[in-house]
Amino acid sequence: MNQALLEIKGLVTAFPGRGGELRAVDELDLSLMPAEVLGLVGESGCGKSLTALSVLGLVPRPGRVTDGSIFFEGRDLLTLPEPELRQIRGARVSMVFQEPMTSLNPVFTVGRQVAELVAAHQEIPAAEAWERAVAMLGRVGVPEPAARARAYPHQLSGGLRQRVMIAMALLLDPRLVMADEPTTALDVTIQAQILDLLRRLQRDSGVGVLLITHNLAVVAQMASRVAVMYTGRLVEEAPVAELFAEPLHPYADGLLACLPARATKRGQRLPTIKGVVPPLDDLPPGCKFSDRCPRAFAACRQAEPALVEVAPGRRVRCFLHHDQAREPRRAA
Ligand SMILES: Nc1ncnc2c1ncn2[C@@H]1O[C@H](COP(=O)(O)OP(=O)(O)O)[C@@H](O)[C@H]1O
Ligand code: SF4
Ligand SMILES: [Mg+2]
Repeated sequence: MNQALLEIKGLVTAFPGRGGELRAVDELDLSLMPAEVLGLVGESGCGKSLTALSVLGLVPRPGRVTDGSIFFEGRDLLTLPEPELRQIRGARVSMVFQEPMTSLNPVFTVGRQVAELVAAHQEIPAAEAWERAVAMLGRVGVPEPAARARAYPHQLSGGLRQRVMIAMALLLDPRLVMADEPTTALDVTIQAQILDLLRRLQRDSGVGVLLITHNLAVVAQMASRVAVMYTGRLVEEAPVAELFAEPLHPYADGLLACLPARATKRGQRLPTIKGVVPPLDDLPPGCKFSDRCPRAFAACRQAEPALVEVAPGRRVRCFLHHDQAREPRRAA
């Protein structure tokens, strides 16, 4: 079998709290094959960004990874010395953030920022680095790239700035790109263009993508598999088509029902999942979704359901599906 590109096992990322550690990511298992696009979905505050930041070793203090392993191309990033991690970061693994204005330096032209990234990893003359930067801006659909390269970030539209960020993320031909809400800050038509661009570049380069979003419609457009997170836990994992056809976890069901296309098809007002994601220091006992779940029953408040595999590639953390759990496979 092929080796996974990224394999996260038992990841715990936590912040210190009064009563002990507050786990923003709680025993997360997730893997991504080479060239695969995996959607990571959940409402705001579910631990998606911290999962990606954990991979890059960039969890903001006082948060830190307290348990688990993160294998990238077979090496555990959590045990790598910082200099080796720095070589992987940006080159083999890169990230696209939601708001490019905060990731681009306002005082340098975008061409200079892209060229400096080239120069930081390859010993080539400055003029050549500049040419490579302009070529890359052209590849991501920046019109008149030679002229636009001389613009400062604030002189570009939000969509163009995001294209610049994508250019930087893909410049060094990484094997994994983590895109964290890459289109959330953009208006709808620009969103679609940026997703088209990401999809095209992904196919051309064969890069693996961890696509982080609160919006399942974005996942439907790009990903082949989806992992749903709630309160730092994985609650459902499935091929995208299967999740859309039949979500198993009530939380996934709720997220799907909130999609405008689905609601209007049924002629309904857009439904929402009642309540909000509970804060980490006030999680309900038992199933963490029990205080919002329309199908909760007594047992849900007493114990937390385990994540079980109910079909090949389908895992779910909900008592309603525990009777479908497959026998754990025995080694031959
Ligand atoms: N700097 C921080 N200090 C304390 N708690 C934090 C901090 N950053 C994130 N958290 C906690 O981690 C949770 C998950 O955050 P995050 O990964 O950013 O969620 P998402 O990306 O899914 O919106 C937040 O709801 C919050 O409780
Ligand atoms: S375990 Fe119970 S509360 Fe949790 S999602 Fe399933 S039905 Fe709802
Ligand atoms: Mg986030």
